[in-house]
Amino acid sequence: MKSTSPSVEAPQPEAQVVTKVKPEASLAQAPKAAGQVVESTTTTKPPVVEKTVGPVGIEVIGADRQKKVFEFVVIEGENYPVPDPWKGRKIGEKPNMSALRQIPVAYTLNQSKLYLHEKALEAFVEMAQSAQEDDVHLQVHSGFRSKNYQQKIFSKLMAGGRTWEDLVRYVAPPGYSEHMLGFSVDLYPSNWQFASTKAYDWLKEHGESFGFSETYPQFGQEGYPWEAWHWRFSPSSKAVVKHSPAKDEIIEK
Ligand code: DAL
Ligand code: ZN
Repeated sequence: MKSTSPSVEAPQPEAQVVTKVKPEASLAQAPKAAGQVVESTTTTKPPVVEKTVGPVGIEVIGADRQKKVFEFVVIEGENYPVPDPWKGRKIGEKPNMSALRQIPVAYTLNQSKLYLHEKALEAFVEMAQSAQEDDVHLQVHSGFRSKNYQQKIFSKLMAGGRTWEDLVRYVAPPGYSEHMLGFSVDLYPSNWQFASTKAYDWLKEHGESFGFSETYPQFGQEGYPWEAWHWRFSPSSKAVVKHSPAKDEIIEK
């Protein structure tokens, strides 16, 4: 669905007042830049407010109701609305490009040049070596991805006939993917088959002790589909273990 004339969701009033808002402002005025995420408000013209009073009988209308935040991204010059569960979760942090390091090609699919934040890479290599000792080969299919690269993924797949709605279930909108911070990896095969690999079983047992966890687990609470192949390194993870040949020692933080 393209969002050349998107509708605005009515607010979810805490006081259970049912309010329908028909804003006059249009996204047609919004800037269009590759992969740009734009937040705009409908403050240019007051919206038409239809109100009905809900069960608790409190009327909440006024200026706060006129502030509506749109979230959309631009792919090939067209606006696409950011849906749940991504909405409101744009990554605010900027990637630290100077901290990116290449993953040894021994651990990448087809020896491709992929990058991770140095902290994540150090932990990943240690983890991959440990996995190898258990005859499990961890192969990275994707690591750091810039916002522009994420945008290109959409452009390419949509040019091939996939729809925004279909893709955005599994691919974060540009600007919303944690891959842009360099702490996440997609392991091969980066699809539903990964859940039945030895690598997945190994990661579930040992990943946490290297600081890696699933961002989108099978029984996550946030409305994201399960992505067994996507693992994130958390530098501050309490579970990180100092691995040594002699003894594994838990570092309490
Ligand atoms: N596949 C995950 C959600 C991403 O694109 O970041
Ligand atoms: Zn991923």
